[in-house]
Amino acid sequence: MLTYDILIVGSGGAGLRAAVAALKTPGLSVAVVTKTMPTRSATCMAEGGINGVLDFPGQKDSLDAHSFDTVKGSDYLGDQDAIDFFVEKASEAVRETDFWGTPYSRRDDGRVACRFMGGHQHARTNYSADKTGHILLHSNFDYALKSGVNFLVDHQLLGVAVEGSGDDAVCSGAVIRNVRTGEVVPVRARAVVLATGGYTRMFWARTSTPYIATGDGVGAALRVGVAFKDPEMVQFHPTGVANGGVLITEAARGEGGYLVNNTGQRFMSRYAPDKMELAPRDITARAIETEIREGRGYGEGLKAHVLLDLRHLGRDKIIERLPQIRHVGLLFENLDLVDEPIRIRPTAHYSMGGIDVVDHRTMATTLIGLFAAGECSCVSIHGANRLGGNSLADAMVTGKQAGLGCAAYAARAAMPGESALNRLADEWRDHFATATARKDGASPTELRDRLAEILWNDMGIFRTGERLAAAYAAVGDLQGEYATARVGNPSPVCNSAYTHFLEVGNMLSLARCSLLAAMHRTESRGAHTREDHPARDDANFLRHSLVTLKGGEYCLDYRPVTVTRFKPEERKY
Ligand code: FUM
Repeated sequence: MLTYDILIVGSGGAGLRAAVAALKTPGLSVAVVTKTMPTRSATCMAEGGINGVLDFPGQKDSLDAHSFDTVKGSDYLGDQDAIDFFVEKASEAVRETDFWGTPYSRRDDGRVACRFMGGHQHARTNYSADKTGHILLHSNFDYALKSGVNFLVDHQLLGVAVEGSGDDAVCSGAVIRNVRTGEVVPVRARAVVLATGGYTRMFWARTSTPYIATGDGVGAALRVGVAFKDPEMVQFHPTGVANGGVLITEAARGEGGYLVNNTGQRFMSRYAPDKMELAPRDITARAIETEIREGRGYGEGLKAHVLLDLRHLGRDKIIERLPQIRHVGLLFENLDLVDEPIRIRPTAHYSMGGIDVVDHRTMATTLIGLFAAGECSCVSIHGANRLGGNSLADAMVTGKQAGLGCAAYAARAAMPGESALNRLADEWRDHFATATARKDGASPTELRDRLAEILWNDMGIFRTGERLAAAYAAVGDLQGEYATARVGNPSPVCNSAYTHFLEVGNMLSLARCSLLAAMHRTESRGAHTREDHPARDDANFLRHSLVTLKGGEYCLDYRPVTVTRFKPEERKY
């Protein structure tokens, strides 16, 4: 049986950072499992930069200010102890990755360049043009290769194994599938880190994230009894390209871009008169949708949009600081944003919720030996709304902490037994045989498309209890159809239909969790806007939602938010 001390699932920024950190403990073997090429992950979609206060003389910013902005940005749902820790480590992460040789953009005096992003009091988003995620991913990948990480490329996570039961239960590894050969491979490990990214592909045709963002790790954690925390908190990035939702970075507004409606007005003056286009994402996304709903947008239905105008920034600045989105404009809208405004509309971008992490220093979950990092985890740093630039910082900080945490655990833990892994692998072999033998049944891609439509209409930027309840039932029906859906291709070799079949199953399950928690959160907070409950309700909902799967039923529970220094107050920008 393949055996490593540490198995990391996912090769985005958090997974790679965890691998590098784990290998600092001598003598441990580390493998990274990845569904695609290690550098093809959603980390690239954090374009605008990585937040971290750098301690330069004369700078007005501070760790306290970054903490406060993150807490306020989260609409007070973030845990303040975790946020203070995160902010301190984020600053270290920028220094550390700079020291590795990450090619950050520079100011004239050689310091790392930084810009404003939404909801921040100070410019603290350190960047490399508008490709920051991409370059950070590559510096982590270089470091991981140099450090001796083993890569299991083209392997899909099937499940996490648990040896023993009750208080003796420990994570004993994971079962993965070689998507090239179809082989089901049990991998034994003392510790497993899930770093599989978010799940906003459940909005399928209107998301900025890659096709792989299907929540495989969250789904696997749910199946072994680990809670999914705050699943209702899905971030809609204000500026996705109108045609499909590919990201136009917030840095476009950080550099001074305008949002304008069909009368040519900079409408953010109505919603956030001080911050204007640099209001946090929840407020800006709601503002755009309100303009569209009230007839001040362009187009109809899914083609509705407003405009992002960058022309006044001038060609040189756009080419120097925003070259990637200029390219996106050319590719997706066939226009040069040096000369023309671009059509945009909010797009599902980030999962604030995720696998319930109970220790922000080690990123441990409630299952011994199982850790989580990056977007698939929920500490909670981002609460109900993440600030731009905090995702790369999250990937670097939680990735490193998970790497250190799992290494400290693995160095003292016994190698678990093989029986649960072998059993789980057999179950998955049977699953492949059964699912691919079906000649009829629903098409998984149709189920996926119906799911996306339900979510966009009923769990989008504006929600009501009635629509959420109907959507919860409708997605339950889709799950019923999924149970007997057909894969269509019986071959084990390069069976991408089966790969996607499993992804659709995960997305349906996670959507159900999100809808359940959204339905019961009868307040508006951050990205969760209930038209039937427009006010924030701290008396009843200053708490995290926790959804677990018990005997096939989705169960909802709550845990109080940790409030330390910043008392919840009305959020104004
Ligand atoms: O707009 C952006 O560049 C996205 C950044 C982020 O999600 O942190």
